[in-house]
Amino acid sequence: MTKERILLKFGGSLITKKNSDIPKINIANLKQIGKILNNKKYDLIVVHGAGSFGHPIAEKFKLINGLDESPEQKNSIKEIRNQMKELNKILCEIIESKGMKTKSIIPSESMKTRGAKHISQFPKEIFDQCLFEGNIPVTFGDATDDEIQGINILSGDVIMMELARIYKPTFSIFIMDYPGVMDGELNSKKSNLIPLVNSNMIDKFKQKMKINNTTDVTGGLIGKLECALQISRYSQCWITDLDSLHMALLGNPTGSKVIQ
Ligand SMILES: Nc1ncnc2c1ncn2[C@@H]1O[C@H](COP(=O)(O)OP(=O)(O)OP(=O)(O)O)[C@@H](O)[C@H]1O
Ligand SMILES: [Mg+2]
Repeated sequence: MTKERILLKFGGSLITKKNSDIPKINIANLKQIGKILNNKKYDLIVVHGAGSFGHPIAEKFKLINGLDESPEQKNSIKEIRNQMKELNKILCEIIESKGMKTKSIIPSESMKTRGAKHISQFPKEIFDQCLFEGNIPVTFGDATDDEIQGINILSGDVIMMELARIYKPTFSIFIMDYPGVMDGELNSKKSNLIPLVNSNMIDKFKQKMKINNTTDVTGGLIGKLECALQISRYSQCWITDLDSLHMALLGNPTGSKVIQ
């Protein structure tokens, strides 16, 4: 009998030191993931983010704007792909050291985009085979070939959306460095967790961003919420932190639940 599935994304904010200019892992959190993940209740599908392994180069060489034909950018694409493979290897080794079997699915070698939010080529049969064999597919945000602009950044959040649509897992859970979506200044004691996030609230967040006249004050949060909203059509979708992973794997996630 097939087990229910749980789709997890370990954010770059969790598994790396995301404010570092050079790639730096968060070893304490990675070890903790290894300890907690060993569950028997669900089949797992894992996605991870980039943090300091992808974002600094992607920004510097403007990969979201597409190819600019410069040799520097060409090198940066190689570099980012290597860094992401390295981070993926570290996470997979930690999971395997606990006796689970993983399979890395490398987006730069198996996926294509048509714009950052649309995956035009996706290796479903590789995921199917891996799940059939009882192994854990582990994929990640990456620099992928794009059918319109040559290159793009395919975020782990968008891959979560695709996987949720295909597999309709019981739970889809974004695990990051905050316990969920907060309603105020991030480090203020007055800031509280928003237990239910819906499309109205996401619109309000966007509005706030417009007023501040910046493109990304939220460090990627809006993009994540937009993906989460789509995911909530297929799967119970939560945004949370590592402290709640154990309960999530028992079928009781906490944090912010994203609903229509
Ligand atoms: N209201 C908010 N509630 C929670 N987090 C917020 C809020 N506003 C901004 N953030 C930021 O959003 C970040 C999470 O999004 P981010 O994309 O940086 O992380 P991630 O998805 O874990 O990383 P990656 O994109 O590398 O996978 C948090 O680390 C926090 O700094
Ligand atoms: Mg992000």
